[in-house]
Amino acid sequence: MILVFGSINMDLVARVAAIPHAGETALAPGYATLCGGKGANQAVAAARVATPGRVAMAGRVGADGLGRVARDNLQANGVDVSLVAVGVEPTGCAFITVDAQGENAITVASGANGAATAALVPDAAITADTVLVLQMEVPTTEALALARRVRDAGGRVVWNLAPVPPDLTTSLLREVLAVSDVFIANEHEAVAAASIIGGPSTGWSACGGFLARFGSTVCIITAGAKGAVAFTPEGELVQAAAPAIHPVDTTGAGDTFVGILTVGLDEGRSLPESLERACRGAALACLAPGAQGGMPRRADLEVPAFI
Ligand code: RIB
Ligand code: NA
Repeated sequence: MILVFGSINMDLVARVAAIPHAGETALAPGYATLCGGKGANQAVAAARVATPGRVAMAGRVGADGLGRVARDNLQANGVDVSLVAVGVEPTGCAFITVDAQGENAITVASGANGAATAALVPDAAITADTVLVLQMEVPTTEALALARRVRDAGGRVVWNLAPVPPDLTTSLLREVLAVSDVFIANEHEAVAAASIIGGPSTGWSACGGFLARFGSTVCIITAGAKGAVAFTPEGELVQAAAPAIHPVDTTGAGDTFVGILTVGLDEGRSLPESLERACRGAALACLAPGAQGGMPRRADLEVPAFI
């Protein structure tokens, strides 16, 4: 069973010619209101390719219309929402600008996500079969508490270090690495993480190897159009290329990667195969607007070469 504990947001997305710098204003013809949040995106990405009934989400939304839409959307995608709480805070909102190249800039107003706790998940919902998926948009201490319970029950933990909190301490990051069976970061996040714990401060490949050894964890670095690389603690290296595409919207590509990679783990697929499927799925996700718009279904991944 895959359990995602993380953020649930509504994304307000505006397409601009160029993302504005501080002090600038960009005009967009309109905006879209789309379901997002790194946690929810990863749950949807996983549920779309997993055997039905294997993905559940734990998190918190507000008692508002956005929260209702977000919850309904998870359910419509086959995610079990019985561990999604409704709180007094507003539902999390992400303000996203996407430029002509499909690149984005995101501001997340956390709202209810900031009050998500490990206590949302009862012990009965955790077994040795649990694969817990975590990111960094709910309190790290709560994510850690849940990760420890899953590990104690014999389950596995996949941790996506996105986004890197500006105040992430050395000791918290050490703990994150210690409970992670698989640690996933993009190039920038990997470099930031390595430097926080005193490793190399440049070169994502050196950083990936360092993090894997340091944390005794499989460390996967996603590198956008360049694909992804996995480093094992034993010094092995597994690579997967990304199919060449013309991205429409890269928002949610990393989340798609994490969701599909986790399904691979849950299904007992090999690391190379899981990595390859995750890269292919992430590329597909970039071909439609919105974080979840282009996320593939199981059948889409059975076709080996899609372009
Ligand atoms: O990774 C993309 C996601 O980041 C968006 O959906 C937004 O909600 C932010 O959480
Ligand atoms: Na997309």
